[in-house]
Amino acid sequence: MKTGIPPLIVGNWKMNPQSVSLSAKLGAEFKKRLSAISGVDVVVAPPSIYLESVHRARNSSKSYALGAQNAHFAQLGAHTGEVSLPMLKDFDVSYIIIGHSERRALGETDVLVNEKLLAVIKAGCTGIVCVGELKRDHGGHYLSHIEAQVRKALVKVSRTKLSQVVVAYEPLWAIGTGKNATPADIYEMKLFIEKVISDIYGRNYAQKVRVIYGGSVSGKNAQELFVDGMVDGFLVGGASLHPEEFIQIVKSVRER
Ligand code: PGA
Repeated sequence: MKTGIPPLIVGNWKMNPQSVSLSAKLGAEFKKRLSAISGVDVVVAPPSIYLESVHRARNSSKSYALGAQNAHFAQLGAHTGEVSLPMLKDFDVSYIIIGHSERRALGETDVLVNEKLLAVIKAGCTGIVCVGELKRDHGGHYLSHIEAQVRKALVKVSRTKLSQVVVAYEPLWAIGTGKNATPADIYEMKLFIEKVISDIYGRNYAQKVRVIYGGSVSGKNAQELFVDGMVDGFLVGGASLHPEEFIQIVKSVRER
């Protein structure tokens, strides 16, 4: 864990739940349960169309921050189907997930990820940049892949803005599969990502970037992954739709 920076737990609801009333119910449930927990930064990222209902359900409690699963880099204009940062900020969104593998699979490139990160930083929000390999190989090529993703995402990002950057290591083979990376794998990758960032900015600045893990994180494995994986938090998909389990994950990062 980084000195003076709390761990971060992000709930990525993806394209769930199925109705606005269910999203409001979940938003209210999290508000109730999270208000008693401190020392952890919690972000809930519903589909954009549900941001208003979750924003209302959360009310002014600020027991969690709101996140978006994507944003366009432009302020406004002819971008059919997109949502801009000023629109998201109207609903108090402060974290944006960028380059999730499910979006990269639809054609989101490293260049686009970088453009989005620069726009997110400029808007005063925090970007959660997702990186991850499709599979692991014995030759260690997956490490070069991760290094390239991190370096390309950070092009033109000033070192003074690094506290607005989070890197989420999400190996594709672990997402939604029930097969999480081992704590040793996670620890190795966390150190590796920090080294890549240190090589660009120097160690002190690199310490501002939280490196979190995502991929089949559950109430059952969170504590071990946090303690032995030494990560700064988690990006949680499936389990973030179940309040009981999500809270268990949040509680698991209070101590190491
Ligand atoms: P998962 O998803 O927790 O369901 O594996 C993680 C993610 O895709 O962010």
